[in-house]
Amino acid sequence: MGLTNSIKQYIKEIDDYVIQSKEDLEQYRITFLGSKNKIKALFNEFKSLGAEEKKSLGKELNLLKQLAENKFKTLESSHSLKKEAKNQSFDLTMPSSIDGLGSRHPISIVRSDIEDIFARIGFNISVGPEIEDDWHNFSALNFPEDHPARDMQDTFFIDSEYSLRTHTSSVQIRVMEQGNPPIRTISPGRVFRNEAISARAHCIFHQVEGLYIDKDVSFADLKQVLYYFAKEMFGQDVSIRFRPSYFPFTEPSAEMDVSCNICNGKGCNICKYTGFVEILGCGMVDPNVLENCNIDPETYSGYAFGMGIERMTMLKYGINDLRLFFENDVHFLSQFSRDS
Ligand code: PHE
Repeated sequence: MGLTNSIKQYIKEIDDYVIQSKEDLEQYRITFLGSKNKIKALFNEFKSLGAEEKKSLGKELNLLKQLAENKFKTLESSHSLKKEAKNQSFDLTMPSSIDGLGSRHPISIVRSDIEDIFARIGFNISVGPEIEDDWHNFSALNFPEDHPARDMQDTFFIDSEYSLRTHTSSVQIRVMEQGNPPIRTISPGRVFRNEAISARAHCIFHQVEGLYIDKDVSFADLKQVLYYFAKEMFGQDVSIRFRPSYFPFTEPSAEMDVSCNICNGKGCNICKYTGFVEILGCGMVDPNVLENCNIDPETYSGYAFGMGIERMTMLKYGINDLRLFFENDVHFLSQFSRDS
């Protein structure tokens, strides 16, 4: 075959060359650009030509070489584009999904529900430190020296003076120290107890404690406010009962139970198969506590109550494991979006 024909044939071959894979690309490179490529062979033939023929064919041979190189670049880039397209299994032209807004944590929802209920009857909100001194967390609240709550088993002590507050009653002491009656306040916040973590208990939880100090405040006032609260919180049909109890800072003291929302009174692990769940402790503020805060117990009396927000939230939403509140699983949390 003459050199002219070979050049023509190779031009056609290069133009028609298609590749499917990386191996095809490499085959092309070996054939047309490799150390023993087809075009090199033509150049060897070219050497033996006469001067006249060299003149006309030299240019064509160089163009062929150029064509082979350009085609390689084209094949190479089209191959990598294809590879990229294969890796992208998504549609770049698709409109982006609108990320859902986060939802409020159920504990925050119920906390603000409780705050709203008490705000409607004139309670303001007070806050205090989570690291608390012995006076505000224990001594001013009439805890005797040997009370079990003062034990390392029950309280997270930081040193002999400070601990993580075990209740927000400490905030009530601060309010009484700083202000004069009438006082009508609720203290929401995080509290800490050295408890084994289970479906019913955690070492961190949230409380709302309430305090009312004025002239002639009676236990009947306390009961009335708590009836109002329970009905606002759980509906008018809720059953309520009081049981006598003991707290160092109140006398007399009681605990209040409401009918179990989870089993509707049939009995479950949350209500310990009694049909009722304890939701708060309460009582008339002990005169010693008033004195500790420079409030004259001869003139003033008052009531206090304290509840756990986790317990309230479990009842309201039918949740039977308290640990869910701390795990931050989005599947759990997204159920509380108020917009959906
Ligand atoms: N401080 C108590 C607790 O943490 C609750 C309580 C508050 C009880 C006020 C009576 C009066 O359990």
